[in-house]
Amino acid sequence: MASQLKSLFWMLLIFLMLSNLQPHCNAVGNPQVPCLFAFGDSLSDDGNNNNRLTVAKSNYLPYGVDFPKGPTGRFSNGRNMIDVLAQNLGFDEYIPPFATARGEEILRGVNYASGSSGIRNETGKITGDIISMDMQLENHQITVSQISKMLGNQNTTTADYLSKCIFSIAIGTNDYIVNYFLPLFYSTSSIFTQQQYAAVLNHQLSQQLLTLYKSGARKFALIGLTALGNIPFERSLCGSGSNGSACVDNINNATQLFNVGLKSLVAQLNTNLTNATFIFINASGIESSPPIASKVANVSCCETLLNSVCAPFGKICRNRTNYKYWDGVHPTDAVYAVYGERAYKAQSPSDAYPFDVNQLAQV
Ligand SMILES: *[C@@H]1O[C@H](CO)[C@@H](O)[C@H](O)[C@H]1NC(C)=O
Ligand SMILES: *[C@@H]1O[C@H](CO)[C@@H](O)[C@H](O)[C@H]1NC(C)=O
Ligand SMILES: *[C@@H]1O[C@H](CO)[C@@H](O)[C@H](O)[C@H]1NC(C)=O
Ligand SMILES: *[C@@H]1O[C@H](CO)[C@@H](O)[C@H](O)[C@H]1NC(C)=O
Ligand SMILES: *[C@@H]1O[C@H](CO)[C@@H](O)[C@H](O)[C@H]1NC(C)=O
Ligand SMILES: *[C@@H]1O[C@H](CO)[C@@H](O)[C@H](O)[C@H]1NC(C)=O
Ligand SMILES: *[C@@H]1O[C@H](CO)[C@@H](O)[C@H](O)[C@H]1NC(C)=O
Ligand SMILES: *[C@@H]1O[C@H](CO)[C@@H](O)[C@H](O)[C@H]1NC(C)=O
Ligand SMILES: *[C@@H]1O[C@H](CO)[C@@H](O)[C@H](O)[C@H]1NC(C)=O
Repeated sequence: MASQLKSLFWMLLIFLMLSNLQPHCNAVGNPQVPCLFAFGDSLSDDGNNNNRLTVAKSNYLPYGVDFPKGPTGRFSNGRNMIDVLAQNLGFDEYIPPFATARGEEILRGVNYASGSSGIRNETGKITGDIISMDMQLENHQITVSQISKMLGNQNTTTADYLSKCIFSIAIGTNDYIVNYFLPLFYSTSSIFTQQQYAAVLNHQLSQQLLTLYKSGARKFALIGLTALGNIPFERSLCGSGSNGSACVDNINNATQLFNVGLKSLVAQLNTNLTNATFIFINASGIESSPPIASKVANVSCCETLLNSVCAPFGKICRNRTNYKYWDGVHPTDAVYAVYGERAYKAQSPSDAYPFDVNQLAQV
């Protein structure tokens, strides 16, 4: 009897240990939603820029140094935010980039994100041939027709299928850092005040979301901007001293205006668009609390070129989990993990509005 109890105890312990490895009790390969589509920039990109004529690339070491497949075009030492979101939703494979997605795999979703891209067409163009949000939406139309063919060309079937998918949209960063705050190359800051520019971006994004809605999307997760003045790239442009910190604050104020507008957009679209659900993820709120707030943030982990991307085969810091910034612009895997996990399951009421991705999946 005692030995039976003992083996039962061990079985239970092993079961608990194994189930802990599988977050949120999803069986492997049995995701909570059938598909995840991602739109955005380098925070989400998983290889779409690899074969394009642009300097906004990351398919070389030290990128991917902590990723099983090595450098893939993710702007991280390991995973990015979409990878973490996909894991939390129970997908057993990452969402393929549009550039290489083929056949049945597109039914699980496609990642259209492109490093350096923005809401506005001209954003990031100084870095080369990147894929703007408008072009990402055109690419999605190609996917929708392919899915429609696979499901038997029935419009209602496709609409029903897409209505269950999650659409992640994380865009706007480059409309600031590779547009508005690069006055040498872009004139937007002489045309618009910060308030006007945030409104222009919010409005153009709302049109883009409407396009997605018309093509069948119903579950939207909109990811807010982080405090962009704090990234090593902007800190170096701003310089040191009190002027430097005023310059950093100024950028943070500008991006905060965008976030406030984005949250209000979520409220409006939830009212205006039938059967659709929008949520806002407060990335800047998440980053300002531990564990992200307690990481080394005044330097990037890798040796950089012009305080932006990592120098090819350059030096890297030893303990990546201690660092907030992997390169001059992007977070480390450890930080992306916090964004992805708290977007999925809010840890504070201010993380997600009106609720988190876990609840969005269940709507
Ligand atoms: C942006 O480019 C797309 C083509 O990719 C075009 O359809 C659209 O009209 C352009 N938008 C603006 C505002 O110029
Ligand atoms: C359904 O058909 C309409 C008209 O042909 C098209 O505009 C729409 O994108 C289609 N929706 C889906 C989900 O395929
Ligand atoms: C700060 O910047 C202003 C304008 O950009 C300049 O006039 C001033 O001299 C600067 N102050 C310092 C301490 O650098
Ligand atoms: C940023 O916003 C804060 C709070 O609204 C304000 O006190 C500060 O002066 C602003 N800083 C700059 C540089 O605009
Ligand atoms: C939502 O509808 C209201 C009332 O018609 C309108 O004023 C507002 O601009 C709409 N918002 C969006 C984002 O479409
Ligand atoms: C909303 O959902 C209902 C029930 O699924 C459906 O009959 C209706 O056509 C949908 N309306 C729109 C605008 O998608
Ligand atoms: C994000 O969260 C912080 C608190 O962590 C809060 O101060 C801020 O207002 C939130 N932002 C938005 C747009 O709700
Ligand atoms: C970064 O901050 C640490 C202390 O938090 C300091 O020791 C180090 O010198 C700083 N590095 C740079 C480059 O400012
Ligand atoms: C790296 O840093 C984390 C967080 O401070 C710490 O828990 C871990 O032990 C460190 N690992 C190494 C190898 O130093």
